[in-house]
This record gives sequence, structure tokens and C-alpha cells, in this order.
Amino acid sequence: GRDPSGAWLPHATPQQLRGQVEENLRQLGRDHLDVVNLRIVGTDSLADRFGALAELRDAGLIRHLGLSNIHLHHLAEAQAIAPVVCVQNMYGIGASSEQEELLRQCGEQRVAFVPFYSIAGTRRTAGAPAEDSSGVQAFARARGVSPAQVRLAWTLHRGAHVLAIPGTGDVDHLAQNVAAGSLHLSQDEVDELASLRPDDVEG
Ligand SMILES: NC(=O)c1ccc[n+]([C@@H]2O[C@H](COP(=O)([O-])OP(=O)(O)OC[C@H]3O[C@@H](n4cnc5c(N)ncnc54)[C@H](OP(=O)(O)O)[C@@H]3O)[C@@H](O)[C@H]2O)c1
Repeated sequence: GRDPSGAWLPHATPQQLRGQVEENLRQLGRDHLDVVNLRIVGTDSLADRFGALAELRDAGLIRHLGLSNIHLHHLAEAQAIAPVVCVQNMYGIGASSEQEELLRQCGEQRVAFVPFYSIAGTRRTAGAPAEDSSGVQAFARARGVSPAQVRLAWTLHRGAHVLAIPGTGDVDHLAQNVAAGSLHLSQDEVDELASLRPDDVEG
């Protein structure tokens, strides 16, 4: 939620979450939502909030539940309350060991892992760099593709359970991003990109 000035509100109470789901249903003109992600900020317990969404799932207003921006312990906490179908977290080349472990656990539990900022990386809302890091750029040049395509293809090679949600307002980039889905990387190439030093990754 945002306040009238557009600033993000602190996390919603269970009651506010119910209101937000009802408002989404009203605006979309639907009687249920296919997937609702609970987005977390910080390390606090999500039990009350996820429990409120689980009640809405039981009532038929939501089909499936997901999580976003979580730490490792949140997945187990949520799974004990209701099934989690997807986790949407920041992830890409240079991801932390915690995020690598979360991706692995999602694969093991057949939970879809949906990375955000897989192109922008640590630049976040500042978007893709005009010039990518030297490591990614050298790799892209050698393969005859763009750095953004390398970053996307790499995430998709981390497991069959990894989906991609790159953002773009540019039609050429959209075509390139779709094409990145067919870019094959060997295991050696996946490992090579995973081993880039942080200063070769951040751009
Ligand atoms: N759950 C969460 O907490 C959370 C947080 C952040 C974002 N998200 C979601 O994650 C998705 C992705 O986020 P995002 O769009 O901010 O980050 P992103 O996909 O990593 O990067 C988007 C940036 O990359 C550029 N770009 C895209 N394709 C490109 C290409 N082929 N070549 C060069 N540049 C390219 C875009 O600029 P152009 O427009 O010029 O292509 C934009 O600057 C969105 O759906 C967003 O809503 C979720």
C-alpha cells in the first residue's frame, strides 16, 4: 500500500490485507484472484499476515498463495500455514548465498522461483546500466548477445522452476528478452558467470 503522497506504507495488518484483496477483486471485476503474493519487508514473522491470506484462500477468494522479498526462514514458516506456489525475490548473477539456498529449496519443494531485478541487479529501480560490468560484457560479446540477455538466460538456467519477469518499456528489448529464453548456456558457462567477482557483476 501507498499513502496519498505515494510513499510506501509500513507492512499491512491482516485486516488491511483482507481489504486490499477485496479492493483488487472489485477493481479487476473478478470473484477470485489466481495468485496473491505476500510481500515482506524485514525478518519479522509473517504468520498473522500469511494466515489472513490463507483464510481468504479457504474462502475461495484466492486460488494460490506466494511470497515476495523473503528470507529463508519465511518459506518454512509460511509452508506450515498454507501451500506456497511461488517466491518472488531479488536474484541474478552475483546473488547472495542465502538467495542461492532459497532458490535451491524452492526447487526441492516444487515452488516456482520468480527473480526480480535480474537485469538491473543492485542498481534496482535505476534500471540496467548503460554499460554492463566488464565480466558480463565480455561474456556477452563472445556469445554475440546482449548483457541483458546473458543475465536473463543465466537465471533461467538455475532450474526448471525459475520463471522470468524482466521489465521493459522498449519493444526491441522485449524481443531480445523473449529470445533470451532460447539462449543455451553450457554448465561451464553457467558456473563461469556464477563465479564472477562482485566488481565484475555490479555494472
Ligand atoms: N516483488 C518485489 O518486491 C519486486 C521488486 C522490484 C521489482 N519487482 C518486479 O520485477 C519485475 C522486474 O523489475 P524491473 O523491471 O524493475 O527490473 P529488471 O527487469 O531487472 O530491469 C529493468 C531494466 O532493464 C532494462 N532492460 C530490460 N530489458 C533490457 C534489454 N534487453 N536490454 C537492455 N536493457 C533492458 C529496462 O529498461 P528499458 O525499459 O529501456 O528496456 C529497465 O531499466 C517487474 O515486474 C517489477 O514489478 C518486484
